[in-house]
Amino acid sequence: MALISQEVFDRIPTAVIVVDDKRRILQANKAALELVGINAPGRDLALNLRHPSVLDGLDRVLKGAPEAEGEYTLPVPVSRSMSYRIERLPNAPLDDSAVATLVLNDITSAKKAEEMRADFVANVSHELRSPLTALIGFIETLRGPASDDIEARSRFLDIMYRESQRMARLIDDLLSLTRVEINEHVPPRHAVDVTRSINNVIEALEPQASARGITFNVDCAPDLPKAIADSDQLHQVFRNLIENAIKYGGKDNAIDIKLQSAERIPGTARPGVSIAISDHGQGIAKELIPRLTERFFRVDEARSSAGDNSIGSTGLGLAIVKHIVSRHRGHLAVASTIGKGSTFTVYIPTGLQPRTERI
Ligand SMILES: Nc1ncnc2c1ncn2[C@@H]1O[C@H](COP(=O)(O)OP(=O)(O)OP(=O)(O)O)[C@@H](O)[C@H]1O
Ligand SMILES: [Mg+2]
Repeated sequence: MALISQEVFDRIPTAVIVVDDKRRILQANKAALELVGINAPGRDLALNLRHPSVLDGLDRVLKGAPEAEGEYTLPVPVSRSMSYRIERLPNAPLDDSAVATLVLNDITSAKKAEEMRADFVANVSHELRSPLTALIGFIETLRGPASDDIEARSRFLDIMYRESQRMARLIDDLLSLTRVEINEHVPPRHAVDVTRSINNVIEALEPQASARGITFNVDCAPDLPKAIADSDQLHQVFRNLIENAIKYGGKDNAIDIKLQSAERIPGTARPGVSIAISDHGQGIAKELIPRLTERFFRVDEARSSAGDNSIGSTGLGLAIVKHIVSRHRGHLAVASTIGKGSTFTVYIPTGLQPRTERI
């Protein structure tokens, strides 16, 4: 006799298995079937679940222990982490000889998130540690061997200033990323003039561009509809992409910026505007393109931190772009050819997003 109807049992999204005193499966729900392939009531559970830690725990509970719990990892076919909890039923065995329940949870994503968070902290510490180490080194030199050397002092102070700027920028970018992430589930609702936003960014970056002999060609379709956007964030997206085009686009080259209406944002049925920013620099290898938006990813560490940008780079720019574009329910497309250049195209919706959307 089933403890509860199978139909109801199957609706429980967590894998639940009921066993008798001989470790035989009395009942299992659909989630258990999917997770561990349990499909034959009456069979010894060990035929499906071979992990020693679960079986040990189960044997202890069948012998009278009130409960057992733990975690285990299944290495094949793809590594999966599971948590289990076994409980002896009060007054077991019951009429139907049920003795214990086993609840299994797939905790792979939680584990992965935990690992990512640990990696992230390690990366942040490393990124902050390098400029800090440089600062400490120069302070020590200035206090000791170089204390009377006026020429060295001014040179070292310049470097120290640059390194502290770099730390400040890293912290600003991290905060910016966190702020975007916090609001990522709330799409913006203001109508924003994209052409004006692009022109503001170009104006702000003009000194940086002309120092590298770079000129802009802006081609804007007439009557471009307004985008539904957060104007500060849109500015941030364009600033990051145009700054990259200046940094990695090669000296004395042009940057082409094309603004158009897009009938459909890729991957959706919604209309929008597209903003394509093309440089004529070294380009990016195809296999690296999917990694560009990872935090701290740089194609070439030396290239990114040298350049004419004295503050170097944090490797967070495109991660910020990705999250902002995702908050806008837009799309970011990257096309690049080694030796020819890259085009980063941002699509932003022109219509309001429905308020009740799944997040
Ligand atoms: N237009 C481009 N051409 C070639 N490589 C690029 C281009 N844009 C980005 N990259 C590569 O992608 C990496 C990541 O870019 P991202 O903007 O995220 O970081 P960054 O520019 O290194 O640092 P930050 O933007 O924080 O100053 C860069 O370091 C660079 O190697
Ligand atoms: Mg950048």
